[in-house]
Amino acid sequence: MADTAWRRAGIVGAGSIGVAFAIVFARAGWRVRLFDPDAQRRAAAPDEIALRLADLTRFALIDESAAQIAARVEIVETLEAAAQDADLVQECAPERVELKRELFVQLDKCTPPQAILASASSFLAVTEFVDASLPGHARCIVAHPGNPPYLVPVVEIVPAPFTSAAATTRAIALYGEAGLMPVRVKKEVAGFIFNRLQGAVLREAYCLVRDGVASVDDIDTVMREGLAPRWSVIGPFETVDLNTRGGIASHAQKMGPSYERMGAERGQHDPWTPDLVAQVEAARRAALPIEHWDARVAWRDRQLMQLARHRKSSLKTDD
Ligand SMILES: NC(=O)c1ccc[n+]([C@@H]2O[C@H](COP(=O)([O-])OP(=O)(O)OC[C@H]3O[C@@H](n4cnc5c(N)ncnc54)[C@H](O)[C@@H]3O)[C@@H](O)[C@H]2O)c1
Repeated sequence: MADTAWRRAGIVGAGSIGVAFAIVFARAGWRVRLFDPDAQRRAAAPDEIALRLADLTRFALIDESAAQIAARVEIVETLEAAAQDADLVQECAPERVELKRELFVQLDKCTPPQAILASASSFLAVTEFVDASLPGHARCIVAHPGNPPYLVPVVEIVPAPFTSAAATTRAIALYGEAGLMPVRVKKEVAGFIFNRLQGAVLREAYCLVRDGVASVDDIDTVMREGLAPRWSVIGPFETVDLNTRGGIASHAQKMGPSYERMGAERGQHDPWTPDLVAQVEAARRAALPIEHWDARVAWRDRQLMQLARHRKSSLKTDD
């Protein structure tokens, strides 16, 4: 672990995501101050953190004792107390634009000027709740986690056009130090990458139920036992790159027209144009030269074997 004992995170909102972020930062050695205006949430948070840390201990996913990590989290009664001295403030309040707007105005006043002000927002972009007239607008950013972030490491870093390059670079470094896997989103779009991909799957899943094509259970089964095992080791681009001899360009040539028709049926006519395919193909070939394709397919299969072994053994227990 990096020597991060001097880092401080202020967390605003002690719901599902705020509590989980407290674990992420404390696990990485940071001092954490966690605030929620709801006294019940403040009272519940320590037990929730202790329970989760106990589970992480049981699965050997933390290096220190649960008590050592929990001791770094202080529950505080004011926003100012959470924010003071923070290197990074993680806002985890409900997804309401006016609320986030008010919180960022307050946070800008009560944090050290170099602190990063990050929102866990799932859909709202910074420009929707921070005005360029806010004195500290250049340090405001979205840091959207998976849930829970102590198990799902990706965090989407989404700067506004007015966020400084230095703040973006620093945010990426800080989340990396905290043990997460930051991915920079190049443009502010609702839902960023994570929820846009999830949204595409959910939109189709709802349509298939509506049209009587499949039951809810069967759709979950096709994802869980079909697409998801591969997607847990490689992404959708690498999946089709490895599924078709000749790689992703060959896949696009053979299957592109069928995908185009499926999209058009749903009113989304976004053909994979030759230029777009060439761009994706170039990225894939840079990551995997075609002469290494067979070896990578064998690697994927070994990864799936490990997963299959794990799933077989974990089926024997209830949890
Ligand atoms: N739940 C998820 O799967 C998930 C994943 C990624 C991001 N997010 C985002 O994270 C944020 C928090 O989501 P959540 O699921 O933890 O919600 P939640 O409802 O579990 O928690 C929100 C917490 O914010 C507190 N709160 C209310 N007003 C506040 C204020 N003025 N100042 C500070 N705290 C306040 C509430 O008391 C509550 O404890 C949202 O923006 C959400 O979209 C959620």
